[in-house]
Amino acid sequence: MTTRTPSPPRPPAAVAQRLLRASATRSYDPDKDIDWEVRAPDDAWFVPPELVSLYGTALWDRMDTRQRVELSRQELASYMSMGYWVELLVLRMFSRHLTSLAPTDPRGHYALTELGDETRHMKMFGRCLSVLGCPVYRLPGSVRRLFPLGDPLFQGLTTFAATLVGEEVLDHFQRALLADERVHPLVRQICRIHVAEEARHVSFARTELRDAVGRASRRRLACHRELTGLAASLIVPGLLDPGLYANAGLDPVRARREAGRNPHHREFRLRSGAKLVAFLQDVGMIIPAQHHWWRRAGLMR
Ligand SMILES: [Fe+2]
Ligand SMILES: [Fe+2]
Repeated sequence: MTTRTPSPPRPPAAVAQRLLRASATRSYDPDKDIDWEVRAPDDAWFVPPELVSLYGTALWDRMDTRQRVELSRQELASYMSMGYWVELLVLRMFSRHLTSLAPTDPRGHYALTELGDETRHMKMFGRCLSVLGCPVYRLPGSVRRLFPLGDPLFQGLTTFAATLVGEEVLDHFQRALLADERVHPLVRQICRIHVAEEARHVSFARTELRDAVGRASRRRLACHRELTGLAASLIVPGLLDPGLYANAGLDPVRARREAGRNPHHREFRLRSGAKLVAFLQDVGMIIPAQHHWWRRAGLMR
């Protein structure tokens, strides 16, 4: 029996060139490529019921369909608000990263292309919240306070690893929404565009991260493992704002407690981070000393 040796990773500049060509061939303008007036059936969900944080709990069993759909609308609003804010943090981290690259570097050209994608995505998320009459949830206070302090330290490794946390966890969620015919057609259109463009972002961030890890000193790597774990422990739980339960007419304390203990929801969260965690372990960005952060993020057992 022959064993195949994995091919060596492609050089980052070659990956950037490939992604630039792919972006030129297939990019979207949400103002033109989305039907913002699409009609939804009266019984449309905003998140598939099985992915709502209370699905399968005693509280869920006592809710009627109208309340369950409203909870799904609040959860969509929370995910989409957080998507908006996380992309704003990506813009900031990438802008800083660009200061270390020459204007002629294709890796910088792709980073600029990604910035362009993210500005369109932010507008798309914001407009969707507005069209659906959803509340806007704020970035968690912990992130608002800590990010400006940590941002100067994120250079290279945490820039790309933290970007991957937001992108891969949301990507898993959005793939489930776009494939589900019970979900509001406007939401599915948005997820389809976002998933298509984010696939390139994930490819870029993974390539850049692997390259940066290969060049990092042991001390620097140890520092960035901690920063990335901390970032994940704040970003992922922040996807569901605790205020959404009261907005859905539920007892916020009980709802939050049941959602936190809900094995169904915990399994979903673990699945959403499985590929990301495997990749970060493979490149050496997660070792046992950081497992506590990743458990706090809900992405590890
Ligand atoms: Fe995006
Ligand atoms: Fe992205």
